[in-house]
Amino acid sequence: MATSGKVIKCMAAVAWAPKTPLSIEEIEVAPPKAREVRIKILACGICRSDDHVVKGLLSNQKFPVIAGHEAAAIVESVGKEVTAVKQGDKVIPLIVPQCGECRCCKHRNSNFCIKNDVVNTGLMEDSTSRLTCKGKPVHTFLGVGAFTEYTVVNEAAVVKIDAAAPVERVCLIGCGFSTGYGSAVQIAKVEAGSTCVIFGLGGIGLSTLIGCRVAGAARIIGVDVNKDKFAKAKTLGATECVNPRDFTKPIHEVLCGMTDGGADYTFECIGTIDTMTSALKSSHPGLGTCVIIGVAAGDERISLDPMLMITGRTLKGSCFGGIKSKDCVPQLVADYMAKKFNLDELVTHTLPFEKINDGFELLRNGKSIRSVLIF
Ligand code: APR
Ligand code: ZN
Ligand code: ZN
Repeated sequence: MATSGKVIKCMAAVAWAPKTPLSIEEIEVAPPKAREVRIKILACGICRSDDHVVKGLLSNQKFPVIAGHEAAAIVESVGKEVTAVKQGDKVIPLIVPQCGECRCCKHRNSNFCIKNDVVNTGLMEDSTSRLTCKGKPVHTFLGVGAFTEYTVVNEAAVVKIDAAAPVERVCLIGCGFSTGYGSAVQIAKVEAGSTCVIFGLGGIGLSTLIGCRVAGAARIIGVDVNKDKFAKAKTLGATECVNPRDFTKPIHEVLCGMTDGGADYTFECIGTIDTMTSALKSSHPGLGTCVIIGVAAGDERISLDPMLMITGRTLKGSCFGGIKSKDCVPQLVADYMAKKFNLDELVTHTLPFEKINDGFELLRNGKSIRSVLIF
């Protein structure tokens, strides 16, 4: 491509400080260094974690930053020694990379590659950024930073997908869908005939619901304080939905009453410590598994009565649904193309990139499941 090896000037949504609207600015994107890939973003979902970034809620969060991490893209150019992808490939950037060499990559059951940037450095491996705005280096979120026309990612953090896949749908496989779906099928390993409870019916919760249904759960109970979320949850396979505000007693007591003492599996897809504790208490004391998926604000802590665990519950956490990203993302795209599951119900709004702040408003007002930005 004509831009190969050159600095690209393009538009990006920059967060200069916490709690301010994103500012659409011209940025400069340097060419990729060795084992790096420069990608042109085609579509990107707005995830709740992006909202945490722009509000400055995450540990180590640094500004200015470009959030956005649920994207589909095309490779513009590659740095030296890159073998995994080539110019023109349709790709999904990976918020949890897969280097293939670290202890987690080599472990059968872990996906938490050491090259991840969940710790929020916001920089490339050499501790610099390829993105600058007004002469200042700009951080990127989760090693991706996709609210921009172009960005640069590590080779370990990008994977080729089917060129025919619709970017405005499969971008969700870059975060929300895989996180929820994997939490059900890979982390919890939901069994056919079981009872599941899902706290929070946003993009993550509904993706978890799809996973529970594909795994053959007999009962799936959705929990949300916004009853407007119930209709879609039922379309996707929830058998019942409950609103904690409709009860005077704690929601875990209500749920244990509905499930013969507690559910087989519970999933926390909200990100508050209160709902994390409720999800654990709603799992059966002797056999239940609770999976925490929601991301709490950086300084929040859970305090637990150890008796909750001693009786036989299992508490698990999930990052990117526990799936090994390079191995599984292309397969999930293929499964979507083969109609094994549908992503259409999750996308409630499609907006041009310039309307990004409107997309955040829809999320904050509980009006959207996923808004997908088109570039
Ligand atoms: N009890 C029940 N439901 C609640 C509560 C509560 N106390 N508080 C919020 N909710 C519901 C909201 O009404 C909403 O439907 O939880 C849902 C959360 O959905 P989204 O805001 O769309 O968030 P989502 O993108 O699904 O992410 C959920 O996972 O990845 C993390 O950072 C992300 O912590 C967030 C979580
Ligand atoms: Zn690794
Ligand atoms: Zn996300």
